[in-house]
Amino acid sequence: MAFSLIIFLLFCCCGNVQLTEAQQLVQGLSWTFYDSSCPRLESIVRNRLKKVFQDDIGQAAGLLRLHFHDCFVQGCDGSVLLDGSASGPGEQAAPPNLSLRAQAFRIINDLRRRVHRRCGRVVSCADITAISARDAVFLSGGPDYDVPLGRKDGLNFATINETLANLPPPSSNTGELLTALAAKNFDATDIVALSGGHTIGLGHCTSFTDRLYPTQDPTMDKTFANNLKAVCPVANSTNTTGLFTSDQDLYTDRRTRSIVTSFAINQTLFYEKFVIGMIKMSQLSVLTGTQGEIRANCSVRNSDNLSLSSVVEEEKGSWSAF
Ligand code: HEM
Ligand SMILES: *[C@@H]1O[C@H](CO)[C@@H](O)[C@H](O)[C@H]1NC(C)=O
Ligand SMILES: *[C@@H]1O[C@H](CO)[C@@H](O)[C@H](O)[C@H]1NC(C)=O
Ligand SMILES: *[C@@H]1O[C@H](CO)[C@@H](O)[C@H](O)[C@H]1NC(C)=O
Ligand SMILES: *[C@@H]1O[C@H](CO)[C@@H](O)[C@H](O)[C@H]1NC(C)=O
Ligand SMILES: *[C@@H]1O[C@H](CO)[C@@H](O)[C@H](O)[C@H]1NC(C)=O
Ligand SMILES: *[C@@H]1O[C@H](CO)[C@@H](O)[C@H](O)[C@H]1NC(C)=O
Ligand SMILES: *[C@@H]1O[C@H](CO)[C@@H](O)[C@H](O)[C@H]1NC(C)=O
Repeated sequence: MAFSLIIFLLFCCCGNVQLTEAQQLVQGLSWTFYDSSCPRLESIVRNRLKKVFQDDIGQAAGLLRLHFHDCFVQGCDGSVLLDGSASGPGEQAAPPNLSLRAQAFRIINDLRRRVHRRCGRVVSCADITAISARDAVFLSGGPDYDVPLGRKDGLNFATINETLANLPPPSSNTGELLTALAAKNFDATDIVALSGGHTIGLGHCTSFTDRLYPTQDPTMDKTFANNLKAVCPVANSTNTTGLFTSDQDLYTDRRTRSIVTSFAINQTLFYEKFVIGMIKMSQLSVLTGTQGEIRANCSVRNSDNLSLSSVVEEEKGSWSAF
């Protein structure tokens, strides 16, 4: 008993160390970034999220997807959180198919408040989002892993065009996914592993009813299709459930089928590749060092903070005078 326990602990430790050492970190990020400036950061976030997920485990999916959208659109710079960003909390501009959970934005802002109250304004919203995604994975039953930290928050909004151009639609086939994600340096294994993010959460009927109406996707399992039709009786139903073409085609396409199968029969392998993919994703086009800023409010750039409103008013004045 004691013996196997020790073996288990050794295995966990070695696995972790190998993984972190194997991963090349982007310049400016580190595994120990806040160790002296905010040593309690990760426990503040995890303890809070445990409570949040006890009330509604669905929020874990919202937070995981938020980090994915942040990273894919102009890098993991917290721009997704900005009011005025195409997928940010100012919902008017958001294309309906993005459907990020409004509560996810509130959770990040609440965590930011708790962290800054303890440590001061030293931790970025982008890092809080990355840690939250990791905790969402772990606290919903997935693997635990270290997240490299040191991201700064961006100053630019993501436009609708930029947002749509960087998020592959759920109607993508494997070829389209491979091409879209190769541009961000992901290989087929990363893509299958990261699509495993869809282990949790939901999709709105509108994200996949083109597979049911007007004609049923012939590659879709008939029983499954009938079940989906019961939940989504019309193409524009507001109900939620789901499976996307992008996911199913990874199993159909010969380039990725064996990867899907290998994960299906070996969860350890899936977790290992998922973590590698997540750490890779979490470093896409990050701002570090003197780039960007650490927002006092994740929804607004510091330059737009009300406490600086006099400067903004002056600028507005000179514009209208001009
Ligand atoms: C590979 C390309 C991807 C496509 C085409 C895609 C597409 C989608 C779509 C259409 C939805 C449903 C939105 C809705 O109807 O409300 C969704 C949900 C979700 N996606 Fe993805 N996604 C992709 C990659 C990822 C990645 C890399 C992750 C994270 C590792 C992820 C995590 C999630 C989660 C957790 C949900 C559920 C969200 C919730 O319940 O609020 N997705 N995805
Ligand atoms: C957005 O993209 C559309 C079509 O791709 C294009 O017509 C439009 O000019 C773009 N808008 C901006 C602001 O770039
Ligand atoms: C969202 O919908 C627009 C049309 O409204 C479509 O052009 C775009 O491909 C969709 N994007 C995603 C990510 O589903
Ligand atoms: C939602 O799904 C239920 C079954 O789960 C179905 O009875 C109902 O008609 C659906 N409502 C809409 C608006 O699609
Ligand atoms: C769905 O489409 C039908 C017919 O176009 C329309 O009458 C109905 O209001 C729509 N429902 C929703 C929820 O958009
Ligand atoms: C499952 O994957 C792990 C991690 O790559 C590997 O060490 C292990 O040998 C695999 N197990 C089986 C039964 O193939
Ligand atoms: C953060 O900014 C948003 C948008 O301006 C505002 O509604 C909210 O009250 C701010 N939060 C705090 C804690 O100041
Ligand atoms: C402005 O910054 C202060 C801290 O300097 C912060 O507490 C407040 O939430 C910010 N307000 C807005 C609207 O961003």
